[in-house]
Amino acid sequence: MEGSNLRRFGMAARILDGTRIAADIRTELVARVEACTLAARRPPTLGILLVGDDAASEVYVNTKSKAGDALGLKVDVVRLPKTATLDKAKEVVCRFNRSQDHDGILVQAPLPSALGTAAESTLFEAIDPTKDVDGFHPTNFGRLAQGRSVFAPCTPSGILELLDRSCINLKGQRAVVIGRSQIVGKPVALMLLHRHATVTVCHSKTRDLSALAREADVLIAALGRPAFVTSEFVKPGATVIDVGVNRLVDEAIVKSLLPPSSPRLQTFARRGSLLVGDVHPAVRETAGALTPVPGGVGPLTVAMLMVNTVRASEMHLGKAV
Ligand code: GUN
Repeated sequence: MEGSNLRRFGMAARILDGTRIAADIRTELVARVEACTLAARRPPTLGILLVGDDAASEVYVNTKSKAGDALGLKVDVVRLPKTATLDKAKEVVCRFNRSQDHDGILVQAPLPSALGTAAESTLFEAIDPTKDVDGFHPTNFGRLAQGRSVFAPCTPSGILELLDRSCINLKGQRAVVIGRSQIVGKPVALMLLHRHATVTVCHSKTRDLSALAREADVLIAALGRPAFVTSEFVKPGATVIDVGVNRLVDEAIVKSLLPPSSPRLQTFARRGSLLVGDVHPAVRETAGALTPVPGGVGPLTVAMLMVNTVRASEMHLGKAV
């Protein structure tokens, strides 16, 4: 068996370099951005609504803004305080909807809990589906479920790009998704199904989670718990996609996850925190291919947001896409 050979010879997993693949995708977009800018006499423009002061969301929105700027897009960020009402947030979305100067709209999740549990779906549904570059509007999610998507959610699209561009076959393969979120788990399961994988979706109530995960040729970890997926969850030689982004600040926990020789311990000592995924670092010795954190799925999410924004601009210019 190929997998056990990998282990016998002590080979570590192939690292799937999301940073490089995202850079390729952005390079491929340059000519399309120029054509849109010429035709519309303004760059493709993304409106982002950021409500509250969640530190991670702040970082994500800054990253999206910088990536847009670097590619020649315009990113227009509207910030509301965490005390803002849902009506106020809806007003911003409706303004973006009516605007002739905005092609795409994104409401950054999570929203402050004070807005209520339905706030996210209310705001996602308020977005004009032709500007819904996140693909979370029920029309776009429904189209995705039917296999005829216009805008597919960015992280799942990025995962598929990463698998395709790394020449990892999906047809007939067993795929296991851990996590059933609207943003990643559910849409990526649908996309893998459309690509002829046999898909199992696991979640917090799943029995025998590690045994199910171990059946996967392609394992997607998107549950949001640091280093939860240990080698026990991974069939030797499997492809493991780590969607988690968890910031650890506890030195004892960091030391328990990494070997004493790991250079990442120095990163932790320097910064006082360390980003780890949902997959335990030791899985590198068992998996055949693995996405790193950081530098795996994250950059692909941002690149696919750029792709969807350019697509929205092309659609608004009447180009067939
Ligand atoms: N929060 C975490 N990921 C995402 C995403 O892909 N889109 C939005 N809008 N919010 C997020």
